[in-house]
Amino acid sequence: MEEKQNWLQWTADRIGWEAIDKAMLTRKIPKVNWAYTLGSTTLFVAIIQLVTGMFLTMYYSPSPDHAYDSINYIMNDVTLGWLIRGLHHWGASVMVILVFLHMWRVFYYGAYKYPRELTWILGVLLLVTVLALGFTGYLLPFDQKSYFATRVGTSMAGVVPLIGPFLKRVLLAGEDVGTLTLARFYGLHIWILPALFVLFVVPHLYLVFRIGISAPPVLEEEDEEGEEA
Ligand code: HEM
Repeated sequence: MEEKQNWLQWTADRIGWEAIDKAMLTRKIPKVNWAYTLGSTTLFVAIIQLVTGMFLTMYYSPSPDHAYDSINYIMNDVTLGWLIRGLHHWGASVMVILVFLHMWRVFYYGAYKYPRELTWILGVLLLVTVLALGFTGYLLPFDQKSYFATRVGTSMAGVVPLIGPFLKRVLLAGEDVGTLTLARFYGLHIWILPALFVLFVVPHLYLVFRIGISAPPVLEEEDEEGEEA
């Protein structure tokens, strides 16, 4: 018997996205609370950062002579430039706050324990990546604030035992903040760190779906009462 199929069924037969829908959206989860939305909120802001960042590259110029002016141009002359740059600028701080809140939720509920240790380790790598994105992005406007903040930050790296001076030189691409530092931070900020972010976030989310979200912990007595009921 020939059945009339619509395009939804047609794509489902080929892609099999019903399985994805089942794994992600329609499966049962334990009774959780609002703190469990912090990971998804972080992911949402990360996507905003990625999209607004892509648009910013269309007008931003990573050279010491033009970086500051190109940001001014984005803010004052480009259509909706103020909005895109504003979202990216404030989104960076929001993301750092959200990552810490999400980590705190996971720690407070003991959700890092077996079998979620790998999810936690990937989370730590994500945290470092997010902080590095913030640090490298801060230099890009190349104004006084970002210039001196980078000098302070790289000097701190310079006093790390043993590898400090080497680390500082690698970060600065020389002895002091200059043209090559800006180029290096830009490359890190728009290519290497976002690539690392994706590399870590994909298995992080895969593990969340594979293992399932943890239930909020309960006191032993509450647990026993629950069993009796
Ligand atoms: C940009 C960074 C991150 C993103 C986008 C992200 C995303 C998520 C999402 C969507 C979830 C599921 C929902 C939830 O529990 O809120 C989750 C769970 C989890 N995350 Fe993250 N996360 C990030 C950073 C971190 C960090 C820094 C840690 C810890 C160091 C971490 C450890 C975990 C763990 C252990 C779980 C499983 C929690 C459970 O099963 O209850 N994540 N993450």
